[in-house]
Amino acid sequence: MNRDLYYGDNLDVLRNSIAAASVDLIYLDPPFNSKRDYNLLFRSPTGQESDAQITAFEDTWHWGEQASREYQQLLRQPNTDVAELIQAFEKFLHHNDVMAYLVMMANRLLELHRVLKPTGSVYLHCDPTASHYLKILLDAVFGKENFRNEIIWYYYNKYSAGTHSFAKNFDQILFYTKSHRHVFNPIRELRDQPIRQLVRENVGGVLKNRKDESGRVMYREVADMKVDAVWRIPCLQPASREMLGYPTQKPLALLERIIQASSNEGDVVLDPFCGCGTTVHAAEKLKRGWIGIDITHLAISLIEKRLKRAFPTNSFNVHGTPKDLDGARDLAWRDKDEFQKWACSLVGVQHYQGKKKGADSGIDGQFFIEDDNQGAKKIVVSVKGDEHVGVSMVRDLKAVLEREKAVIGLFVTLAPPTRPMVTEAATAGLYHSAGYNEDWSRVQILTIEGLLNGSERPIFKNMNPALGSRQAKRESNLRHRGNVEMALDE
Ligand SMILES: C[S@@+](CC[C@H](N)C(=O)[O-])C[C@H]1O[C@@H](n2cnc3c(N)ncnc32)[C@H](O)[C@@H]1O
Repeated sequence: MNRDLYYGDNLDVLRNSIAAASVDLIYLDPPFNSKRDYNLLFRSPTGQESDAQITAFEDTWHWGEQASREYQQLLRQPNTDVAELIQAFEKFLHHNDVMAYLVMMANRLLELHRVLKPTGSVYLHCDPTASHYLKILLDAVFGKENFRNEIIWYYYNKYSAGTHSFAKNFDQILFYTKSHRHVFNPIRELRDQPIRQLVRENVGGVLKNRKDESGRVMYREVADMKVDAVWRIPCLQPASREMLGYPTQKPLALLERIIQASSNEGDVVLDPFCGCGTTVHAAEKLKRGWIGIDITHLAISLIEKRLKRAFPTNSFNVHGTPKDLDGARDLAWRDKDEFQKWACSLVGVQHYQGKKKGADSGIDGQFFIEDDNQGAKKIVVSVKGDEHVGVSMVRDLKAVLEREKAVIGLFVTLAPPTRPMVTEAATAGLYHSAGYNEDWSRVQILTIEGLLNGSERPIFKNMNPALGSRQAKRESNLRHRGNVEMALDE
């Protein structure tokens, strides 16, 4: 059964890791910029906003390079209804923040449609800020004949001080299915009814309502009413026991209802914007498999703690790449091997898979370049996820360079290097590339932080693009992140 948590942009995860027609139910609660600091950004335990989340926010909400690229992808994909609709939106909205948001959503909804089984359902959680646009988009992606409900989640317990208009105490959840063969389990609930409907009192031949002492009609709860599309479920309050301190956290009761209505035990539930993991918690509780995706380490680490606490004996998998330094630290602490693989991919290098892999080889990744016509030259990578690094580690790498006859060694470190380390690296000297007539440092110290924010990059070049197409692909990713000059495809 799936129990999978992914760090990363859901578009990449959906495209690369989730098979077509493999999911029974999708719930998504994407960020919307209705109130920036409340709805989207949250703080780490150290009080800092998550860089990855800020980046996600900026990418989502501003018409920029990412929005243009994703817009072009929409024009090229096979669903022509979506391609036409997005052009119509563009004519009406131009390149504003809502347009950037709709482009982001359109690409993701197309992927969600792909991964959904023919019997599957999707519930898109939104609010009046964009629900009108999203419903048309869903019509185009899922087919308007597959629209099932607009659910109103009425959180009657929320205090709102609206003075110039009515308080907005509801969200909308747009419910679509992939076909008419969808799973649906009607749900019943206790509902308030006037007592008159239950107890008939015949006083002197006249039917009277039961009233309390002040003359108000009395109500009581009766069972066996089918749930309709208006859901009265209280929202979480700061003092709620469920509350984890995550601003957009949804109540478990809301997710349990969705999961019970549109899936059965053993089915797979996917939440591509899973936040602090309400969906995966509810799915685990109701014995469903689940897949959760979030772009921030903070959300993923919160979910890990939440699940370990709630289901101490159930194990689950965490996949994917950190997007910020906190995420990198967490990965290094949790899984050294995964951290090394990820750190190697940051410098465009294949993680070392040879026989010598192991603590004593001193090599975590290696790679060949052809910078002239004298044959391939070896580059080795040493990754350090330790909290402290020291000069002896640089000396070790220098020894590895000699032993392996490598021209360059990349020392990739989570902790910042000390001054003696930098001095020691300089003593390794320069490698002269005859092909480029350039000198490149033989030992290059690179910090994870600098690689992530694009301020650092390995310095070497390769004339032969045919060498290692996989690395070339990774490098184009790196270039996209701003590590521009490590050009394997030059
Ligand atoms: C409104 S919150 C979801 C809250 C969630 N329903 C809960 O109960 O905790 C939206 C989440 O989407 C995440 N997010 C934003 N853009 C993303 C992307 N491109 N890929 C994956 N997650 C993303 C944010 O980090 C945030 O945690």
